[in-house]
Amino acid sequence: MIVFLSICFTSAQQCDQPEKNARFNCHPESSPSSEKCLARRCCWQPMNSTLSDENVPSCYYPRDFPTYRVISSEPTSFGQRLIIMKPQSTYMPNEILNLTVDLFYETTQRFRLRIYDSTNKRYEVPLQVPVVQTKANATDYDVSITQMPFAILVKRRSTGVIIFDSSVSPLIYADQFIRFSSVLSSPYLYGLGEHRQALLINVTNQWKTLPFWTRDTPPVENNNLYGVHPFHINVERTNETPVNFHGQFLLNSNAMDIDLQPLPAITYLTTGGIIDLYLFTGPTATDVIQQYWDVIGKPTLPPYWSLGFHLCRYDYHTIDNLRNVIKRMSDAQFPYDVQWTDIDAMSSHLDFTYDEVLFNGLPDLVRSLRSEGKHYVNIIDPGISSTQPAGTYPPYDDGLRREIFVKKFNSSDPIIGKVWPGTSYEIFTLLNAIFKSIGWTAFPDFTNENSVEWWTNIAGTFHETIPFDGIWLDMNEPSNFVDGSQQGCTNTTLDNPPFVPHVLGGKLSASTVCPSAQHALSSHYNLHNIALKAIRGKRPFILSRSSFAGSGQYTAHWTGDNKSTFKDMYFSISAILSFNMFGLTNVGADICGFGLDTTEELCTRWMQLGAFYPFMRNHNAGKDQDPAVFSWTAQQIMKQAVLMRYSLTPFWYTLHYQATVSSKTLIQPLHFEFSDDENTLGIDQQFLLGRAILVSPNLISNTTTVNAYFPRDIWYQYPSGEKVEFVGVFANLDAPLDKINVHIRGGFIIPMQIPGDNLMLSRGNPFILIVALSSFKNATGNLFWDDGDSIETKIYNYFEFSSVENTLTINATVTNYRDSPMRLELVRIFGVNQSVTDVIVNGKEHIDFFHNISDQVLVIYALDLAMIEQTIQTIRWITMK
Ligand code: NOJ
Repeated sequence: MIVFLSICFTSAQQCDQPEKNARFNCHPESSPSSEKCLARRCCWQPMNSTLSDENVPSCYYPRDFPTYRVISSEPTSFGQRLIIMKPQSTYMPNEILNLTVDLFYETTQRFRLRIYDSTNKRYEVPLQVPVVQTKANATDYDVSITQMPFAILVKRRSTGVIIFDSSVSPLIYADQFIRFSSVLSSPYLYGLGEHRQALLINVTNQWKTLPFWTRDTPPVENNNLYGVHPFHINVERTNETPVNFHGQFLLNSNAMDIDLQPLPAITYLTTGGIIDLYLFTGPTATDVIQQYWDVIGKPTLPPYWSLGFHLCRYDYHTIDNLRNVIKRMSDAQFPYDVQWTDIDAMSSHLDFTYDEVLFNGLPDLVRSLRSEGKHYVNIIDPGISSTQPAGTYPPYDDGLRREIFVKKFNSSDPIIGKVWPGTSYEIFTLLNAIFKSIGWTAFPDFTNENSVEWWTNIAGTFHETIPFDGIWLDMNEPSNFVDGSQQGCTNTTLDNPPFVPHVLGGKLSASTVCPSAQHALSSHYNLHNIALKAIRGKRPFILSRSSFAGSGQYTAHWTGDNKSTFKDMYFSISAILSFNMFGLTNVGADICGFGLDTTEELCTRWMQLGAFYPFMRNHNAGKDQDPAVFSWTAQQIMKQAVLMRYSLTPFWYTLHYQATVSSKTLIQPLHFEFSDDENTLGIDQQFLLGRAILVSPNLISNTTTVNAYFPRDIWYQYPSGEKVEFVGVFANLDAPLDKINVHIRGGFIIPMQIPGDNLMLSRGNPFILIVALSSFKNATGNLFWDDGDSIETKIYNYFEFSSVENTLTINATVTNYRDSPMRLELVRIFGVNQSVTDVIVNGKEHIDFFHNISDQVLVIYALDLAMIEQTIQTIRWITMK
């Protein structure tokens, strides 16, 4: 019967698809059946059930499934414009039969494909992307069009490798469902976040569906999480070297699935918007990222203090507990920079308030922290309580007056959900006690321009009470403790779309507001994935849980409610590496774990690893886990890790600067630097800071060695300077609890500083340079330095360091910032394998040095060089011939 029907609708020949990996799913929704499949005029052919075939679609498109053909084509200033049409609708409601295809040859390495409704304007993501109206002269890619059926093929010109080919399955373009596919150049990808997954997505034998819809949920595999980044980097593996990379970004903010299959191929299934697809030809992974950031915007430069160690917890509960923690940290002489408080410090969990009983004295405590050079960050949730007596809670009253809240469908009333804030309803007293003051809330609409003034006013007023230094934007997916709203959702197609991606909870309103809710710009259906916009103040520090492509221009990010497990610690590395690709470079995970109680061993290991996260915050909701609560030994190990971080802050800060000006990630996978070395392809237990520092944490409980890989190059152990003997192999390194393995790559100069109790106190401390010589005995590096707080970065100092033929040259290329002593005290040179007889500093003999020939480390101390006084300064060492 099934066979008969199949033949009836589509010829058997058209269903004859011997290659199972080339089946494209025609029924991605759950519970496909032959009836449903054949009703779509697709092919139904279940596989014999073996485990490996589990995810092979039983329902797939026949070769002749109706799709578009090219009606007209004309050259334009930016490239080419096509009109494509299809004669009849297929199975989705409201298919759009007449489409325009614009091919933008934007730059040599960037191609943009836009497919949109020829007659009606549709929603587009309000991200400011470059507007290019002139076709690039020469391109690294070659584009060709197939007329019937319509398809686009893009090849890398230099190698002929296919980087996009849409001919593999039909384009469907309906009002609430757009699907298209392309082959991948290899089964190896990076990116596609936010999802908990290994760094390398390898679809060699795997079918995978990744849902995209921002969602408040602890990070676990296969779920849609807090952010949306439909960007990936695909490795082009041929037999030739060098290996090339290309990137792909779908600029679309609607709920979507991205399917991957072992052909290898990728399919986008989105519930709205348009097709706005960018291809970036690299050819290196670093190039792809730079080309991507040219579109989405570069990260913001964080304030210097925010590079320090941050301490937080959910439920300090009282100011006395908070004071105790601060005191024990101080008694332990533990370096830290930023103290945070969570929603428990608010009055009844109301934003822009503090509990004047339980946290009586908080403003003074904050002032006293600041007087010691520390900083303070407080939390804001987007849910604004809507049930306080009129006239008592300005954030709501004023918001209502300005009409800045997200509205119900077809109504001028705010849509009401439930988040943390307290409520004035008696009936909720018990609930409040159980659920910590869950209450009705409205949600500010940050696409409404009046919200900016509303926010600035209320945040400004609160700042007069508590002089916070940064804002933590939590729950901004936005999270809602009831699905949709107080009154549920409508029966419109926005709330009940014909296709629902594989999102957690099975519906778009799960744990958020109704998709039909109205923002000034468009429906929540379209805008949900765009994180609530951050507001900028003085060089702002904002930490946002939710994110979309481009959020790195405004905010730092953390990976949400992880757990205190070694597995969570491992996954934090791929998350942080991926967010660096997404342009949210200032990212960290809750160190020691947020949920469950940590252990001393785990917390010690995690503090060591966290010292190498761009954003370092210890935060949790369980037992106290601030470093000072642990044994003296554990404290010393953690302190050592934080001091290592603090001594490296000039290097970190320079990395941040380079991210903002030259689109470099702060941390990166080994494969991006050593792409010709296949061994590095999937390494996600080690990572590089910039290009120069290799971190190999111990991620396994009760072990004292770590299996680490050293790509073929020169590596020196830090801090000893000892050279690594085995490269190009995995080796077991000693990794007892008190040690994190850190290695410096030959060829790089690392600027450092003598650390202090916090970064404000250490800003004036002497500098140190580590010169790690390459196999050619040279090295380079640089340093950016400014006041660390001004929005404009026009007044700064910049140094270029180079070491060639036994001479270190310090070139002060910019010296506008004069408020810092900047004295160079110590230089350590790794890899000096001939005896040193003399050291000459700026032409004069310098006697303060020693050289350990067995370790090959030369130390030049008591330098006291004023770094900005002369443009060029030199340090030369003379070796015995
Ligand atoms: C959820 C956040 O992810 C977590 O970090 C925070 O502690 C709680 N909300 C309470 O505000």
